[in-house]
Amino acid sequence: MTSQIILITGANKGLGFETARVLGRDGATVLVGARSTELGEKAAATLGGEGADARFVQLDVTDESSITAAAELIEREHGRLDVLVNNAGITTTGLDAPPPSAIAADLVRTAFETNVFGVITVTNAMLPLLLRSPEGRIVNVSSSLSSLTQLSDPASTRPNLLPYNTSKSALNAVTVAYARELAGSSVTVRAVCPGFCATDMNGHAGHRSPDQGAAVIASVARLGADGPTGVLIDEDGLVPW
Ligand SMILES: NC(=O)c1ccc[n+]([C@@H]2O[C@H](COP(=O)([O-])OP(=O)(O)OC[C@H]3O[C@@H](n4cnc5c(N)ncnc54)[C@H](OP(=O)(O)O)[C@@H]3O)[C@@H](O)[C@H]2O)c1
Repeated sequence: MTSQIILITGANKGLGFETARVLGRDGATVLVGARSTELGEKAAATLGGEGADARFVQLDVTDESSITAAAELIEREHGRLDVLVNNAGITTTGLDAPPPSAIAADLVRTAFETNVFGVITVTNAMLPLLLRSPEGRIVNVSSSLSSLTQLSDPASTRPNLLPYNTSKSALNAVTVAYARELAGSSVTVRAVCPGFCATDMNGHAGHRSPDQGAAVIASVARLGADGPTGVLIDEDGLVPW
């Protein structure tokens, strides 16, 4: 990944931060996207102290003006983008969410703002820069909770989180839509499931460590143009939609 320019959204903590750490160790220039200047600068400084070429980029995925400013900054300073990791994500309920019929639509709307509409807005702003890369890659951080095949298994014990799960299923659909548009171009589009990792998002209930999840995201970020596009991948391989 030496000399690759990689933007990771929501990279101030959790899986985004750990993914920046892994790819920074690979020799990439890692653009640490964060909505908080204080937290983003701190994260970039930590990675820089470990020897990475890490630079903070202010980016709130729900704020179009911050996304435009980030794309302009990347164009000015780097002229292209090799990898976009759409990692920033939220859940609007705990893991013990009420059933769908007891969830207000606003909670679903809020999840979609970040997990789906944010990804679309960031991707559209960065795509001209990705198309300037010889092997542009878009990596959408999804979840196995997005898999309709797995969730519709009557034996499934996975949490039935209406806002989160449906937003990640929509993110998968977004992944396929962009992969179709970009087939035949130099840009591939993949969704990845890092596994259930202990982060703030789940009150550190995950049974995997953030660096284990980051290793999966980084492995998908490293896939070349000859790898599959328009797919959902976890550490064991392709995940059914
Ligand atoms: N942890 C898991 O088990 C797991 C499993 C599957 C998939 N995922 C996915 O992995 C991704 C990272 O999650 P995580 O577990 O690392 O959670 P996390 O520790 O809560 O980190 C989420 C990151 O997203 C950022 N973010 C949220 N809203 C944002 C916005 N509007 N603009 C920019 N950044 C924003 C957060 O920034 P602030 O610090 O400013 O809030 C934070 O940096 C998410 O997409 C999540 O759905 C996680």
